[in-house]
Amino acid sequence: MNLLLRPKLDSEVRTWIGPTLKSLVMASMSSSKVMHPTLPPEAIIASKTPFKVELVGGKRYSWCTCGHSKTQPFCDGSHKTKAPGMAPHRFVVEKDCTVWLCGCKYTRNPPYCDGTHNIDFIKSATLAEEK
Ligand code: FES
Repeated sequence: MNLLLRPKLDSEVRTWIGPTLKSLVMASMSSSKVMHPTLPPEAIIASKTPFKVELVGGKRYSWCTCGHSKTQPFCDGSHKTKAPGMAPHRFVVEKDCTVWLCGCKYTRNPPYCDGTHNIDFIKSATLAEEK
């Protein structure tokens, strides 16, 4: 076994598992019904790059966490049928601003891009629209 590869693999596994666990916690916190799926729902990669958006201060936004929304990066309710158990990440910004919202859905700082889209798992993925 090549020990030099091991830390990189562990890091990528954490990158995959972290958002999935966060999605489960967010789903259970935002719903009165707690779901116990046998397999956790997985986000699909909506985009391999972030979305630059202008946000209005004080307005409530719902960032898509499942990747199925047709109104990326925002939720259109697709998670209800395509990824039951997942829920959008709701947020408010204090004042008008321009931000980069994550499109890959694997950011560790939702809803904002943190550069995670640069890992091999994301870069080499086939997008749903490419299949
Ligand atoms: S688009 Fe997801 S981390 Fe950048």
